[in-house]
Amino acid sequence: MFEALEKINERPDPFQFYTASDLWTDEHTSKQMLTFHLNETIDVSSRNAEFINRSVEWIASEFDIDMDTKIADFGCGPGLYATRLSKRGANVTGIDFSKRSIEYAKEVAAREKLKISYVHQNYLEFETEDRFDLVLMIMCDFCALSPTQRNGMLSKFRKLLKPRGSVLLDVYSLSAFEQRQEAATYEMNQLNGFWSPNKYYGFLNTFKYDEEKVILDKYTIIEPERTRQVYNWLQYFTSEGLESEFSQAGFLVKGIYSDVAGNHYDEKSSEFAVIANTA
Ligand SMILES: C[S@@+](CC[C@H](N)C(=O)[O-])C[C@H]1O[C@@H](n2cnc3c(N)ncnc32)[C@H](O)[C@@H]1O
Repeated sequence: MFEALEKINERPDPFQFYTASDLWTDEHTSKQMLTFHLNETIDVSSRNAEFINRSVEWIASEFDIDMDTKIADFGCGPGLYATRLSKRGANVTGIDFSKRSIEYAKEVAAREKLKISYVHQNYLEFETEDRFDLVLMIMCDFCALSPTQRNGMLSKFRKLLKPRGSVLLDVYSLSAFEQRQEAATYEMNQLNGFWSPNKYYGFLNTFKYDEEKVILDKYTIIEPERTRQVYNWLQYFTSEGLESEFSQAGFLVKGIYSDVAGNHYDEKSSEFAVIANTA
């Protein structure tokens, strides 16, 4: 028992393990995630519908979306942005490794007679001959990636963009990092049965890496037949830090905003968004 608890409370190196697929693609958790995405009143998995409508409105005007605009939406989920952007005429490709979300997105596209290309794949491995005017990665997915993975994604974006193409993505800020605290909790059927339909015990260890500005929520889920660990990493950014990652990857940062709906940048905002162009 003592040894098991030691393992549960063990602090890994920043981004030592990548378990995003356990969170998003597992048969049971992906069902919960889809329900969150589709709940129009909450900001879990996707933002609320009112925000998404405002965001799409801003994206459409900021990037002059029309029938000639090709967009790649990385981590598109059930296509809440892709659907809306396609209705505005854009030619959209959505990439996501959640089979359940992609199937839902495809059903919507078929029902609404929208020509959207949905790709069921890990976006770290996504390759195509297509070239895009705009790359999106919305709801701070960039923060879940290690420095090496982020660098790889920015190189990928640069390769996939047409000359003068843009990236729009959002991240968590330092002001949000300051509000996070280390903690260790334990609960039966933690998060109301989120991790399994069967009885389980869940431990949550939150680790704060002050130097790297990284938070890890490490979940240990114990069922009769299996024990698994899910590592949710989040990198928090200063605007200067994010700009430097983009410029090192050959991008020019064109604008910083408080969110992907184009609100004015405020240092105190818990998130912020960036538009970067291929330099
Ligand atoms: C926070 S949700 C945001 C969904 C969508 N962008 C939105 O705002 O409605 C993150 C999405 O990224 C997907 N995702 C996370 N890591 C991924 C990966 N490595 N490859 C493909 N999809 C990934 C998840 O399945 C999920 O649909």
